[in-house]
Amino acid sequence: MEKDMVVVTGAAGFIGRNLVAELNRRGVERIVAVDALGQDEHWKNLRGLRFAEYLQRDELADWLAEGGACVKTIYHLGACSATTETDADYLYANNYAYTQGIWKACTEFGARMVYASSAATYGDGAQGYRDDESTLDTLRPLNMYGMSKHMFDLWALRKGYLKDICGLKFFNVYGPFEDYKGDMRSVIHKAYGQIQRTGKVRLFKSYRPDYGDGEQVRDFVYVKNAVDMMLYAGDHPDFNGIFNCGTGHARSWNDLAKAVFAAMGRPVNIEYIEMPESLRAKYQYFTEADMSKARAHGYAHEFASLEDGVADYVKTHLATPLAEV
Ligand SMILES: NC(=O)c1ccc[n+]([C@@H]2O[C@H](COP(=O)([O-])OP(=O)(O)OC[C@H]3O[C@@H](n4cnc5c(N)ncnc54)[C@H](OP(=O)(O)O)[C@@H]3O)[C@@H](O)[C@H]2O)c1
Repeated sequence: MEKDMVVVTGAAGFIGRNLVAELNRRGVERIVAVDALGQDEHWKNLRGLRFAEYLQRDELADWLAEGGACVKTIYHLGACSATTETDADYLYANNYAYTQGIWKACTEFGARMVYASSAATYGDGAQGYRDDESTLDTLRPLNMYGMSKHMFDLWALRKGYLKDICGLKFFNVYGPFEDYKGDMRSVIHKAYGQIQRTGKVRLFKSYRPDYGDGEQVRDFVYVKNAVDMMLYAGDHPDFNGIFNCGTGHARSWNDLAKAVFAAMGRPVNIEYIEMPESLRAKYQYFTEADMSKARAHGYAHEFASLEDGVADYVKTHLATPLAEV
């Protein structure tokens, strides 16, 4: 039996959809796409993709028990990705315990595992943004979503599995096919809609004297770069451990808004609005991936600048809504 099957969980989600499209572009079609389609419209993300089989998340374990020997790599992106989800039991079962099951199958069948962790594991950033495994247990995620990711990272570390697995801590990923994510979609997607409707973008005011309005910063990653790093990890069995996935350059919300206006050919018009009280205590003013570990381990590919990523996103997707693979 040929060991050439690739499993992508979360394949109908935002990053997973882009990952399958890139695999297709590279000529890979022996793919098992796994997701949890539910009642919303994200099944539409599967359109235009080429894969051998589709499974709902609860079918994967049985499928692996039968066909796991032909699996070369599992890219595990499937998760409840909502930072606002408050059902901790669900996050435990779906994001943590389910991921343990995937790893157990990988060890049983000799498959490579690359999985999505998150920058949400860093909490308020008080410990910095270094993907140093020796300080992993000092991190304090602010929400149960971040905790569910952190629990798997810690479990894999304590069991000694990180020498064989690659986990990527994605920072703020944006790009095509995030449309269905509602409030969890990137501000680039939201800004595009606001500019179309009103000609202006609304950003939160700053409540810290050391940051001006809209000058709070994040590490914004174009999805094509996130996919590239995942595939690199899949192709390099020695690229193991937990790595940040970001540009390494924090950029402001003002820069982001200006990049969207520029890509749309519209004049800059930003309105600063009050942040809801409930967000103020948890709000992050600064995130920036420290990429030195990934670089030291051989990942040398460049990340798109915010301006280039936004321009590509607007041109190839937002301004062309029917664009597919
Ligand atoms: N986008 C970002 O900026 C970002 C940042 C940090 C980390 N991540 C992580 O990267 C991964 C992909 O993110 P994304 O933005 O593409 O999220 P997404 O659009 O929500 O995609 C995840 C997909 O996985 C499905 N799913 C949920 N549980 C599953 C399971 N156990 N097995 C298989 N599929 C499952 C989801 O379905 P439902 O919607 O029905 O649950 C959804 O379609 C996630 O693990 C996320 O936590 C993303």
